[in-house]
Amino acid sequence: IRRTKIVDVLQRTDYGAEVNVKGWVRTHRSSKVVDFIALNDGSTINNVQVVVDPATVDAELLKQVTTGACISATGKLVESQGQGQNSEIQCTDLQLLGACGSDYPMQKKGQTFEYMRQHAHLRLRTNTFGAVMRIRHNMAIAIHKYFHDHGFFYFHSPIITASDAEGAGEMFQVTTKKLDDLKKDENGKVNYSDDFFGKMTSLTVSGQLEGELGATALGQIYTFGPTFRAENSNTPRHLAEFWMIEPEMAFIDLDDLMDTEEDFIKYCVRWALDNCKDDLAFLNKMIDNTLIERLQGVVSEDFVRLDYTEGINILEEAVKAGKKFEFPVSWGMDLASEHERFLVEEHFKKPVIMTHYPKGIKAFYMKLDEDGRTVQGTDVLFPQIGEIIGGSVREESYDKLVAQIEERHIPMKDMWWYLDTRRFGTCPHGGFGLGFERLILFVTGMQNIRDVIPFPRTPKSAEF
Ligand code: 4AD
Ligand code: MG
Repeated sequence: IRRTKIVDVLQRTDYGAEVNVKGWVRTHRSSKVVDFIALNDGSTINNVQVVVDPATVDAELLKQVTTGACISATGKLVESQGQGQNSEIQCTDLQLLGACGSDYPMQKKGQTFEYMRQHAHLRLRTNTFGAVMRIRHNMAIAIHKYFHDHGFFYFHSPIITASDAEGAGEMFQVTTKKLDDLKKDENGKVNYSDDFFGKMTSLTVSGQLEGELGATALGQIYTFGPTFRAENSNTPRHLAEFWMIEPEMAFIDLDDLMDTEEDFIKYCVRWALDNCKDDLAFLNKMIDNTLIERLQGVVSEDFVRLDYTEGINILEEAVKAGKKFEFPVSWGMDLASEHERFLVEEHFKKPVIMTHYPKGIKAFYMKLDEDGRTVQGTDVLFPQIGEIIGGSVREESYDKLVAQIEERHIPMKDMWWYLDTRRFGTCPHGGFGLGFERLILFVTGMQNIRDVIPFPRTPKSAEF
């Protein structure tokens, strides 16, 4: 008899049929006359109940059916007497596939996330991580579906690159040599000519610049892959390795860009509401009982569109009215997460798309506004999260772009291939980057970004 996944078994109503399920034991309750085993195989948050007559099973075997053990159960599908589930299995053949030692770290229910992080190799077996990982999968599908349906092409930007797309100097270097073996020039600077790539290369911080090459040829593209930042930020919102979605579009302006950002993110949240009902219900019950309500709020309301300068005014007014921030507020500053969260959580109480930032705090590629002080950059700010999307209209003028590059002392010789887009048939274009894990944080209600990726990479934490 072939195995049936528990998600499918729980849908079935052909009572009397013989089925086989395999999975990991969540709980095992026994009495003299009957044993109840709650079994989960990861296909759904829901367990199937396996009912065993202890007289029919070897007592030693039944003793080994402990939390975490892997079993195979065959029996008759029957209508469940218990509440909240349709069917259970009246077991006629029970087999132990893998016993589980009593030192199983996930044995106890209700462990802290901190504790689970220390057992990252096994935490996937818990209900919460199962739910988060299924939602993560669903979000990836929603993203591909959205862009495919809107005529974007999935475009693969390189992981190893010679350019610092964000110009923030937060790159992990790639070399085949031990650093000590790299040649140094007379000033003691490392000379990479000897290395595999013949120059200094790094792991990508963003696929945007290559994405612009794609968009100025194919019209609309998106990337979706891992990106790396060697920033030493130990916060609940930062990872050293995170996944980013970066659409890039030719022939758009700032309003088109904001419309796409808003439509796309709403689509993803709606997808979760429609396709992850059981997992969301579980998280709503166990993690955050306002979760589903908040998700419904985001899909049904218009995001606020706010000029940076207006945003600073609002923050300054708040300070005058007695609001205390850790970092002082003034025009020209980069918003700290406390400022972003004040605007979305306390002032507007909905997502905000902030625009027209001072050029000094944004990357070189953003299109300069007429006033020469601000740029056509957008950040989408979300409740609980802060910045979830960063994007911009790109500077399409060769001369203005070169001026920005020179002002920032970015080595021009490294940028020739990028500048060529502006020399050969340049066009208005723009795009944005969505941090995948920040989206998952929002959709799951989880509090720490380390808990929405299977294997988080953060400063001083990469055990395997
Ligand atoms: O704002 P960022 O740095 O923008 C870019 O990389 C642009 N090239 C995007 C573009 O226009 N194509 O990053 C974009 C998003 C942020 O809004 C945030 O959601 C996420 O990526 N992000 C991080 N997520 C987790 N850990 C980190 N260290 C992150 N840094 C950025
Ligand atoms: Mg940003």
